[in-house]
Amino acid sequence: MFQHKTARLMAAFIGTIIFATAQAQEVAQQKLAHVAILATGGTIAGSGATSTTTVGYTAATVGVQQLINAVPELQKAAHVTGEQVFQIASESMTNDHWLKLGKRVNELLSKDDVDGIVITHGTDTLEETAYFLNLVVKSRKPVVLVGAMRPSTALSADGPINLYNAVLLAASPDAAGKGVMVALGDQIHGARDVTKSNTSTPDAFRTPELGMLGYMQGNKPYFYHVTTRKHTVDTEFDISKLDALPQVDIVYGYANMNTVALNAFIASGDKGIIHAGTGDGSVAAQVKPGLVEARKKGAIIVRSARVGNGIVARNGEANDDQLDFVVSDTLNPQKARILLMLALTKTNNTKEIQRMYYTY
Ligand code: DGL
Repeated sequence: MFQHKTARLMAAFIGTIIFATAQAQEVAQQKLAHVAILATGGTIAGSGATSTTTVGYTAATVGVQQLINAVPELQKAAHVTGEQVFQIASESMTNDHWLKLGKRVNELLSKDDVDGIVITHGTDTLEETAYFLNLVVKSRKPVVLVGAMRPSTALSADGPINLYNAVLLAASPDAAGKGVMVALGDQIHGARDVTKSNTSTPDAFRTPELGMLGYMQGNKPYFYHVTTRKHTVDTEFDISKLDALPQVDIVYGYANMNTVALNAFIASGDKGIIHAGTGDGSVAAQVKPGLVEARKKGAIIVRSARVGNGIVARNGEANDDQLDFVVSDTLNPQKARILLMLALTKTNNTKEIQRMYYTY
């Protein structure tokens, strides 16, 4: 009789412990930030034939729930939910993808129960998507883009730890109001100035001269810089009613170049041209008349530079005041294109557009 009573008491005690533990875990989960993971494809979702296949793999094959399940530690970092917005290798990103993603980000961040967003993305155009979102997201909540340089099936795949750190960053109150961020390789970069600087090594993402924002270390972010340029809630751009973006293309500068590409872009109706000039945004003598003609036809001409760092000086390598050209400040050509597309949704006035390049 005594043993039976003791067994019942023990069972009740163990049951209480289990229930209390579950309750504590439930409360802990409730205390965790809710980070929505939006998956778009890329190498982080890629797979290769063998564990040593780090090139020649297939990007965009693994779904968002599989990415989350592969990192059980995420459950301790945040309450995560997953959504597959689309599944592409990011070299195939289009303006339509950007508008869909930007609207979904704003829709989610408008909800009180969403504290931050992580976007898994191919690295090829990751810097461009980050800058686009930096200009159109209307929330101070953290938005973090993350990718990987090795597919999920590779030895020392960097995707899982990059995803874990990105979720920790997006869950961190310290990350609020800093603009859209890019987190790979334990580093935190700002969307405006980060660029992919290597075709294949895990440290490909750099902010060469203007400086990254900080580091991820020991499960938390450490910030050392903030951007001086306006972003997110402080921009004048609104995509909520946009179904398309104006067509803007990039003309690359090089020795012996001609105006065939430029003329084709203009003939196809481009509203703007980014000229990725040599040096300080220089324009070849044989190309300048073509740019002037394009401007006369109404296209906005922005002088950027192919070199990657430094300010393209207004009235330096061309008389911008006289030619009514715009300069891209320090934005590389691919980011200058994004700002011009959004600027053209607001104005065709070159003075206003130049102001935007010195503001964002
Ligand atoms: N196809 C490239 C992309 O999706 C792979 C590069 C990567 O994601 O690391 O951007």
